[in-house]
Amino acid sequence: MTTDKLKKEAAEAALEYIQIGDVVGVGTGSTANFFIGGLAKMKGRIDGTVASSEASAKRLRDHGIEVMDINHAGKLPIYVDGADEATRNRHLIKGGGGALTREKIVAQASEVFVCIADESKLVDRLGAFPLPIEVIPMAQSLVSRSIARLGGQPELRSGFTTDNGNIIIDVRNMNIDNPIETEKQLNQMPGVVTVGIFAIRAADVLLLSSASGIQKIN
Ligand code: A5P
Repeated sequence: MTTDKLKKEAAEAALEYIQIGDVVGVGTGSTANFFIGGLAKMKGRIDGTVASSEASAKRLRDHGIEVMDINHAGKLPIYVDGADEATRNRHLIKGGGGALTREKIVAQASEVFVCIADESKLVDRLGAFPLPIEVIPMAQSLVSRSIARLGGQPELRSGFTTDNGNIIIDVRNMNIDNPIETEKQLNQMPGVVTVGIFAIRAADVLLLSSASGIQKIN
């Protein structure tokens, strides 16, 4: 089965979590795009959406789905998004698409975070995927030096600006044996906007697709 087919299956499994009248938090990336395609078929039954990126907001509107300002939406019942890596504890690395800050805001504002992924994203420990960190541009050198002192290898994501006007530093070889502690430690660095570890607010449900079907981890 192709990776796209697996992503689509995970995305379609998440549609079962949507209730009539929900305002749905919608993630970013290729797996989330399949979710948007599925959501379009039931758009008359939801009250609207909140998007975690400009790209997803555009895609939602192109499907005729209402996109609301999160500041007017209140607590969201559900957020559905992909991940770059996921553990069985439902700790994630996100931000491969650079939308990690808005993703973390929407995740935090949601009662239930359903993470959708194909089985290739499941790992025993986080960190093989370079860890994205959104940084205010003037802090690039400062943050890079601090990361190097922790043993990570920082690299500026070239030619990329986030929806919030910031840069992304991708970090290789970061020790993430304790995801919650590493998330806290990196969050505290001046100039860091968001670190792509989602462990303090982990996913509540992980829907993993494989050739043998959907595995639900919660
Ligand atoms: C976007 O910034 C990311 O957090 C995505 O959720 C993540 O990169 C997964 O993307 P794919 O579904 O395209 O693999």
